[in-house]
Amino acid sequence: MQKFGGRMRVLALNLATATACCLALVICPAAAADAEHGKALFAPCAACHTDRPDALGPSLKGVFGRRSAALEDFRYSNAMRRANLVWDADNLRAYLSNPQGKVKGNRMPLDGITDGKDADDIVEYLETLR
Ligand code: HEC
Repeated sequence: MQKFGGRMRVLALNLATATACCLALVICPAAAADAEHGKALFAPCAACHTDRPDALGPSLKGVFGRRSAALEDFRYSNAMRRANLVWDADNLRAYLSNPQGKVKGNRMPLDGITDGKDADDIVEYLETLR
């Protein structure tokens, strides 16, 4: 009985979450990028992209609208130095979806985010990093 009660609570919680998600979809336009979801998806990126000097990746604070390879204190690859991009939404989406396709030979060890909505949500979150 104890166990059953626990399950019911989990079920109720799932239902509540599902309802909240449906409501959010009704209230917000369904296709709108979601920075909150992007933030959750960003967790694995944060393993490398921190502000610490010994971070494996460059800081992404203010990356939106910045030129590629713009941080003086980060050792970018030659490929990234030569890329000569501005990190607007289109370039970020293309790079995150297929890092080697967009900047061939760059050093970021990421396979690419294949879900287009996920990529949009991450870009939306990156835009909030100031
Ligand atoms: C294992 C470490 C690692 C992970 C995980 C990682 N990155 Fe990177 N990222 C890098 C490195 C290293 C570079 C620099 C690449 C170069 O110089 O060739 C980079 C570069 C970038 C740049 C360009 C920054 C600039 O200043 O030009 C962006 C944007 C970026 N990463 C976003 C992300 C996002 C978003 C994720 C998660 C989906 C992610 N990265 C996951 C290591 C990582």
